[in-house]
Amino acid sequence: MCGIVGYVGPNEDDRALSVVMEGLARLEYRGYDSAGVALLTGNRAEVRKRAGKLANLSAAIETDPMLGSSAGIGHTRWATHGGPTNENAHPHLGGTDGKLALIHNGIIENFHVLGNELRADGVRLTSETDTEVVAHLLARAYDGDLTAAMRQVVARLEGAFTLLAVHADQPGVVVGARRNSPLVVGLGDGENFLGSDVAAFIGYTRQAMELAQDQIVTITPREVTVTGFDGTPAQGKVFSVDWDAAAAEKGGYDTFMEKEINEQPRAVGETLLGRTDESGALVLDELRIPEEALRRVGRITIVACGTAAYAGMVAKYAIERWTRIPVEVALAHEFRYCDPIVDEQTLVVSISQSGETMDTLMAVKHARELGAQTIAICNTHGSTIPRESDAVLYTHAGPEVAVASTKAFLAQITACYVLGLYLAQLRGGSYADDAKAVMAELQEVPAKIEALLGSLDRVREIARFMADTRAVLFLGRQVGFPVAMEGALKLKELAYIHAEGFAAGELKHGPIALIEPGQPVFIVVPGPDTPHGLHGKVVSNIQEIRARGARTLVIAQEGDDAVVPFADEVIRVPRTSPMLQPLLTTVPLQVFALELSTAKGLDVDQPRNLAKSVTVE
Ligand code: F6R
Repeated sequence: MCGIVGYVGPNEDDRALSVVMEGLARLEYRGYDSAGVALLTGNRAEVRKRAGKLANLSAAIETDPMLGSSAGIGHTRWATHGGPTNENAHPHLGGTDGKLALIHNGIIENFHVLGNELRADGVRLTSETDTEVVAHLLARAYDGDLTAAMRQVVARLEGAFTLLAVHADQPGVVVGARRNSPLVVGLGDGENFLGSDVAAFIGYTRQAMELAQDQIVTITPREVTVTGFDGTPAQGKVFSVDWDAAAAEKGGYDTFMEKEINEQPRAVGETLLGRTDESGALVLDELRIPEEALRRVGRITIVACGTAAYAGMVAKYAIERWTRIPVEVALAHEFRYCDPIVDEQTLVVSISQSGETMDTLMAVKHARELGAQTIAICNTHGSTIPRESDAVLYTHAGPEVAVASTKAFLAQITACYVLGLYLAQLRGGSYADDAKAVMAELQEVPAKIEALLGSLDRVREIARFMADTRAVLFLGRQVGFPVAMEGALKLKELAYIHAEGFAAGELKHGPIALIEPGQPVFIVVPGPDTPHGLHGKVVSNIQEIRARGARTLVIAQEGDDAVVPFADEVIRVPRTSPMLQPLLTTVPLQVFALELSTAKGLDVDQPRNLAKSVTVE
């Protein structure tokens, strides 16, 4: 939430401005209520900021150009304190001499107390933000050394924050600080960068440095200095980003979402890559938890939010089946508040694309305090959740820019399968022998997704016909249940249509009252070979709603003819074993939501009110 960019380098033409603006364009998915930049020009911090999308800021700069500078900071906002207005947009100036500018991501919980203190001292605050309070505190603490001033100020702040500041008296310096909010350093040649994530500077360098909690970083064109909040020198961890600027661009597609849906075969394939040896056995050297400890795990709790939590629901079915370890899925924001039963024998698996979701981070921290072992399934190197966990299993979906998640979801499910099969292999038992066979079947899934993506024209047509629809229901059972929930979430997010996902068996316990003539219902049908006769039960569910007038849009495997008499539309997916079906059945639902949103003329990549990385609780 909120994107942050900082730059120092040579004072050449408009390089600082263009680096900062390009960074903001790449980070806009993090928040798009308002945007602003500050450059150090002459003896002042010059600021331009505008409510609305980045295009409004670009237009403002075109009308009122900014001079060259060696340092700049930029911000794209997702409003927390104070609405999305020009006044509340960042950067905020501190003091009255116009020399210090500050941007912020997070929430300063004690800003009322600090603000009242400033007001009592005669400071006039012009915005409703917590950020402006910090800018004034910093200006007051400044005595020729911005890093020292930052150290004094962070000691007074409660809450979560990333702060970046510049001061006109130190024109070649940007100072950053972070607590429970993301900040990474980009290491250039004669220039350095700061960003909420590496996308901010990927067009300039792929060398990056992680910062730990409660650290201050000072960048100049040639130096990066890291200290703890108490001033103790520290070292950041340097890493290379394994994707490039092209991966963060649309690559010929109209939207990032369309590109990312089409990248799913690769996202799944790369997440499987390198995780088996020549014999097909799973090898997860990256998990730093000793095998013995994993063998002793007595229960697993998965913590995640939104789409990632639906990946966790799929994982529950798979991991319980393969390992016989009880698995619970907790929404990360509820986890701490249900007094969770967690001990040393509990493995807490967090799932997060961004690695920065505050609710998930707090759940992981709580689990560790209770003694659990923690594994993060994450898509973002250098992010906070993996660093705060005992081990990490990276998904290799590449950068996901569209705000609503697609390829990360399939990659998360894939990583959960890998983890489940690895635990099964380690612990022995009846499914250990099957692990290799399931892995071999998983390797075939990318080609099946590819084929499926090429066969969805009818889904697009249906979506276009349904542009005026007011409500859509989604039904599924077993692993199809979370797929139904995900299909509904995509439609809510992208097309602003009321959508609900249900377990099909629950229908007759209430939701069937919603069915009226013409009500569109998607049904995710399990393959005919799903155990316990589940396929037949879902076919009966389809008949029940069709008898009440529902328009049935049935997602079924190739060759499943039993659904045909009861389906208004059949959307075919390639065959695979029942547990792996979500990797295929999800795809038509994503394409449906994308197409319907496009037909309504909506912003597919940046839906209203959302932000990609939810870094506040
Ligand atoms: C929905 C979506 C969100 C995220 C959720 C968790 O399309 O993207 O529901 O899945 O906010 O985000 P991460 O995975 O970054 O922790």
